[in-house]
Amino acid sequence: MGTTRRDFLKATGSAAAVAPVVVSGRAEAAAAEAGRATQQYPVKAIGRESSIPANQAVTFTYPDAASPCVVVRMGASVPGGVGPNRDIVAYSTMCTHMGCPVSYDPAAKSFKCPCHFSMFDAEKEGQMICGQATENLPRIVLKYDNSSGAISAVAVDGLIYGRNANVL
Ligand code: FES
Repeated sequence: MGTTRRDFLKATGSAAAVAPVVVSGRAEAAAAEAGRATQQYPVKAIGRESSIPANQAVTFTYPDAASPCVVVRMGASVPGGVGPNRDIVAYSTMCTHMGCPVSYDPAAKSFKCPCHFSMFDAEKEGQMICGQATENLPRIVLKYDNSSGAISAVAVDGLIYGRNANVL
C-alpha cells in the first residue's frame, strides 16, 4: 500500500510546514545588502513647533531646493506625527502620478492633484485615496526637539516623483 496524503502530513508535521529558505553565498549577501542601502539625508530646520499654524500648509523644500514640500499641523495625533501632540506631518507636494503640484484641502485634510484628480490622506501618512496615482505621497520624516521645540526634516519615506533616488 502506498503512502496517503494523510500519512505524509502526519509524518511531516502539518500541511502548513514550509521549508526555510537559506540565503548563502556572496551574491545573495550582496543583493540583501544592496536592498538595505540607505541614503545620506540632510537635516533641515523647518521651524519651531509653535510657529506652525493649525490645519494650514506651510511650504519648504527638502531634501534640496528642487523638491517642494509642506508641513501641516493636523490638530490631533496622527500616524507619523511629531511634536507635543504628535500632530505635525510633512509631505512632498509632487503628485506621484505625473508630478503635478498637489494642494492641501483643509476641509478634507487631504491633498488634491489638479491634473488628474488624485487625492492623498494627510492624516494617514499620505495614503492614496483615489485617482490616477498608484503610490502614496512621499512623507517627509520629521524630528522634534523637546527642549527647543524645533522641527527638522531628516529623511523621506517614499520616492519623490521623477527621481531614481531622493538624494541627488
Ligand atoms: Fe496628479 Fe496625474 S499628476 S493625478
